[in-house]
Amino acid sequence: MTTPITYELIKTDKQTGARLGRVHTPHGSFDTPTFMPVGTLATVKTMSPEDLHSMDARIILSNTYHLWLRPGEEIIREAGGLHKFMNWDGAILTDSGGFQVFSLSDMREITEKGVHFRNHLNGDKLFLSPEKAMQIQNALGSDIMMAFDECPPFPATYDYMKASVERTSRWAERCLAAHERSDVQGLFGIVQGGEFEELRSQSARDLVSLDFPGYAIGGLSVGEPKDIMNRMLEHTTPLLPANKPRYLMGVGSPDALIDGAIRGIDMFDCVLPTRIARNGTCMTSNGRLVVRNAKYARDFGPIDENCDCHVCKNYSRAYIRHLIRCNETFGFRLTTYHNLHFLVKLMEQVRAAIKEDRLGDFKEEFFEQYGLNKP
Ligand code: GUN
Ligand code: ZN
Repeated sequence: MTTPITYELIKTDKQTGARLGRVHTPHGSFDTPTFMPVGTLATVKTMSPEDLHSMDARIILSNTYHLWLRPGEEIIREAGGLHKFMNWDGAILTDSGGFQVFSLSDMREITEKGVHFRNHLNGDKLFLSPEKAMQIQNALGSDIMMAFDECPPFPATYDYMKASVERTSRWAERCLAAHERSDVQGLFGIVQGGEFEELRSQSARDLVSLDFPGYAIGGLSVGEPKDIMNRMLEHTTPLLPANKPRYLMGVGSPDALIDGAIRGIDMFDCVLPTRIARNGTCMTSNGRLVVRNAKYARDFGPIDENCDCHVCKNYSRAYIRHLIRCNETFGFRLTTYHNLHFLVKLMEQVRAAIKEDRLGDFKEEFFEQYGLNKP
């Protein structure tokens, strides 16, 4: 199968086995491991495309479900696709809508054909299926589309999970059949299976036989303990082809990014940095900092003295605290920029460490400073 998405493995880290690589897309290449900022509604909240370029973000994520409801995929197609619509010339990955239906809508019914549920905005009855998710993503024109899957909650029983994995595999086949633009858009399969090794194996086997240009690992970071996630990654990544990218969905805490890279993950996304930013919380080299707190009222230093971002060079904790307490949008913009910059640069440091075969050492140093080794 020809595909517009290719992966180049550059080297693996001798200490951990983490992969340094590069993914090529119709809208440019990006180095991996990488973190993708989330732009659910065709905007990374409070950021302009220029902001994203200035921190060297090369790929962002957007959502089928949200853009289907508003403004509707036909308007985006008419605009010339999502890249043109939002003026972003880097790469875009769109999630399929499966996960959002499960996380945003109560009252849903899963059938073999697809999922019936209610619009989280107005309660209207809606139906999403593998074919519909492909049609919407084809209209959006994202570089990487995701297969329509089921992400069951944690914990789920073995029997439920087995039936779900088998249905997700059948849906993946239907996604491939319905995909109409495989010359310009790559479709990734999503491995499910919850906390069950055997089902992760079955899911990986099914999807690998369908020959997708990349694979995601889904159904994690849904409330399970950290060691289950790491165990599932250790089990699953060796089952995926070495010459294709691997994407861990919905993960964005600094420790999980490093632990994921060590287990062979190349791509990550999460709303965490942008969401906590709007609530006045910053990620810094010394751990999380709640800049909203009263103790920063007269602190005229930067959010993070070790950060060289535009925000840390020019604005103080006291000023940012003041803006956020007053609900001034500029405050949210400053914390969002810093947090995204922090994760994008963290992944640059991870890649530099892989290049020098010292990711194990880097992890220890980073965890120590971030305050993650303390009991
Ligand atoms: N985002 C986070 N986890 C998942 C998942 O399991 N499936 C999909 N489609 N999106 C996700
Ligand atoms: Zn900064």
